[in-house]
Amino acid sequence: MSDYLQDEENFTSQKFDWLVWKKIFMFMKPLKKTAILGLLAVMVLAITDIIYPYISAFAIDDIIRPNIDSTVVDFSKLPLLITYFVIFMIVQATMVYLFIIYAGRIQNELAFSIREKAFNHLQELPFSYYDRTRVGWIMARMTSDSRNLSEVLSWGLIDLVWGVFLMVFLTIFMFIINWQLAIVILAVVPILTAVSIFFRKYILKAYRSIRKVNSKITGAFNEDITGAVTTKTLVLEEQNYHEFDILTSDMRKQSIRAHLIQAVFFPTMLFIIFIGMALVYNVGGNMVITGAISVGTLYLFTNYVWQFFDPVNNIANFYARFQQAQASAERIVSLIETEPDIVDKEEVIAKYGTIFEYKRENFEPLIGKVEFKNVSFKYNVGETVLTDFNLKVKAGQSVALVGHTGAGKTTIVNLISRFYEPTAGEILVDDVDYRERSIGWLHSNLGYVLQTPHLFSGSVMENIRYGNLKATDEEVIEAAKAVEAHSFIMKFEDGYNTECGEGGSRLSVGQKQLVSFARAILADPKILILDEATSSVDTETEQLIQTAINKLLKGRTSFIVAHRLSTIVHSDLILVLDGGQIIESGTHRELIKKKEAYYKLYTNQYSEEMLELSKR
Ligand SMILES: Nc1ncnc2c1ncn2[C@@H]1O[C@H](COP(=O)(O)OP(=O)(O)OP(=O)(O)O)[C@@H](O)[C@H]1O
Ligand SMILES: [Mg+2]
Repeated sequence: MSDYLQDEENFTSQKFDWLVWKKIFMFMKPLKKTAILGLLAVMVLAITDIIYPYISAFAIDDIIRPNIDSTVVDFSKLPLLITYFVIFMIVQATMVYLFIIYAGRIQNELAFSIREKAFNHLQELPFSYYDRTRVGWIMARMTSDSRNLSEVLSWGLIDLVWGVFLMVFLTIFMFIINWQLAIVILAVVPILTAVSIFFRKYILKAYRSIRKVNSKITGAFNEDITGAVTTKTLVLEEQNYHEFDILTSDMRKQSIRAHLIQAVFFPTMLFIIFIGMALVYNVGGNMVITGAISVGTLYLFTNYVWQFFDPVNNIANFYARFQQAQASAERIVSLIETEPDIVDKEEVIAKYGTIFEYKRENFEPLIGKVEFKNVSFKYNVGETVLTDFNLKVKAGQSVALVGHTGAGKTTIVNLISRFYEPTAGEILVDDVDYRERSIGWLHSNLGYVLQTPHLFSGSVMENIRYGNLKATDEEVIEAAKAVEAHSFIMKFEDGYNTECGEGGSRLSVGQKQLVSFARAILADPKILILDEATSSVDTETEQLIQTAINKLLKGRTSFIVAHRLSTIVHSDLILVLDGGQIIESGTHRELIKKKEAYYKLYTNQYSEEMLELSKR
C-alpha cells in the first residue's frame, strides 16, 4: 500500500515536461481535425458570449430609453432586436452543440487509444514485468490516469481555450467601447485570478489528501474483502473494524475541510466581483450623468465584470488540473515505454510475425524435441537459480520434475515456455535455439496448465474454447469428454452454459483443473506443461484427473511438475531436482530400486502410498 502511494508521489513533478507531452500528443495526432473544429467552435462561442449583453444594451439604448423620453411609443426597432436574438440563439446553440460533440469525441477517442496501446503493451510484457509490478498500479494507469488525461486534454483544454479567447476578446471589445471603464475592470481581473489560483491550489491539495486516504480505504477494502474468510477464521473482525474506522474518520475530516475551502472560495470571488461592479457603477455612473456613455454601455460593463468570473475560474482550474494530468501522463508513458525483456529479434518478426499477427504460413511444424544446453538462469531479484543446466528430452517423452519446494521446478518449465529466457546458454526446441523462432510459434504449439488453474468469468463452454477459438461446440464437448470433465459439467443445472464466476470461483479446485485440461487438449499442443496442483483432491477426483492426464500426455512431449505419486509412476523420465541441479534421474522403478533421493522424498511424503506402489 505505502509504496503504491510513493509511486503516486514520485510522478508529481511541478515543471512542464515537454518530452512527456510530446509523446501524449502523438495520440492526439489522428484527432487534429476534431480538435481544430472544437477550438473554432469555442472561439465563436466566446464571441457570442460577448455579444449577448450587447443585445440587451441595444434594447436599453435604442428601444427602452427613447420610449421613456418621448410621449409617442415607438417599437419599430423591436423586430431588429428579435432578429438579433434569434441569430444569437441559433449560433450559440450550434456552437455549444459542436463543442460538446468534439470535446466528447476527443475524450473518448483519446482514452480509447491510450488504453488500447497500454493494453496491447501489457500483452507483450513478460512474466518478469508482472513479478515486479502490482496489479493495482497497472489498474490505476488503465483507469483513472487515462481518464484523467483524456478529460484534461478534451474538456479541460477546450475550457482553457474558451477562457483565454473570451478574456482576450472581452478586453479588446471593452477598449473599443470605453477605455476608462475597461481599465477599471482590468484592475480587478488580476486580483480575481490570483485569488482563484490561490484557492484552487488549496482545494487541489485537499483533494489530493482525500484521494490518498481514499486509496488507503480502497486498499483496506480490497484486503478485507478478499481476506474475509481468513478474517473470520482468525476472529479479526473487531481489529479490522477499528482500522477501518480510523481511515474513514480521516476521510470525513479531509472531505469537510475541502468543502470548507470551497465554501470560502466562492464568496471571496463574489466579493471581488462586487467591488469591481461598485467601481464600474461609480466611474460609469458619473459618465452616464455627464453623458459620456449611455445607460446601455454602463449595463454592458457591469455585465462584463461578471463575464470574467468563469474564464478566470476555468484557467485556474486548468492550471491546477494540468499538474495532475502531467503526472498521469508520465505514469502512462512509463507503462507504455517499459521495454519487454523478452522480444523476438527483428529478423524473427519479419519471418514469423508479431504476437498479434502470426505469419502462420512460415511456422515450421513443431516436433517436440527439447534441450537445455549449459543453461544458467537468475530472476531479476534473488540468486542464480540454475547453473550450467543440461537436459535432453526426446519428442513425445513424458518428463516428471520432482523436488522440494524452491528446487526450481516451476523455473524450468517457465524457461521452456519462454516466459523467461536463459541468462546464459541456450534452450533448443527441435534442435534450434528457440530465440531463432518466434514467441508465437512456440506458444501456439505449447499448452501450459498452471499450478493454480485460472478460469475466466464466462461459461464453461467459453472457458474450454479459449484453447482453440475456432472449435465448434461439438469439439469442445469432445475435449471435455476426453479428460473426464463431461460428466460433472452435465451435472450442473445449466450444463456447458454454467457461469464459472470471476476466476472460476464457482467451481471446485478439481473441477477447475479438469476444465483447464479440456482447454489444453482442445488446443492440441505439441509440448504440454503441467504444474500440478499441490492441494489434495478427493480420491475419486484424483482418479479422474489421473486418467485425464494420461490421455492428455499421449503423443506429446510433456513436462509435469508432479506432487502426486500416481502422476509420476508412468513417466518416461523422472528428474529429481535440488537447488537447481538434477540430483537423480530415471524411471520410477529405477529410482525406487536405487533407494536414494527419490525414494527418500517419497517415503517421507507418501509412506503408505509408497508401500502400496513398491509392491507393484
Ligand atoms: N518470480 C520470481 N522472482 C524471483 N525469484 C523467484 C521467482 N520465482 C521463483 N524464484 C526463486 O527461484 C527459486 C526456484 O523457485 P521455483 O518456483 O522454480 O521452485 P519450485 O520448485 O517450483 O517450488 P514449488 O514446489 O514450491 O512450486 C526459489 O528460490 C525462488 O525463491
Ligand atoms: Mg512451483
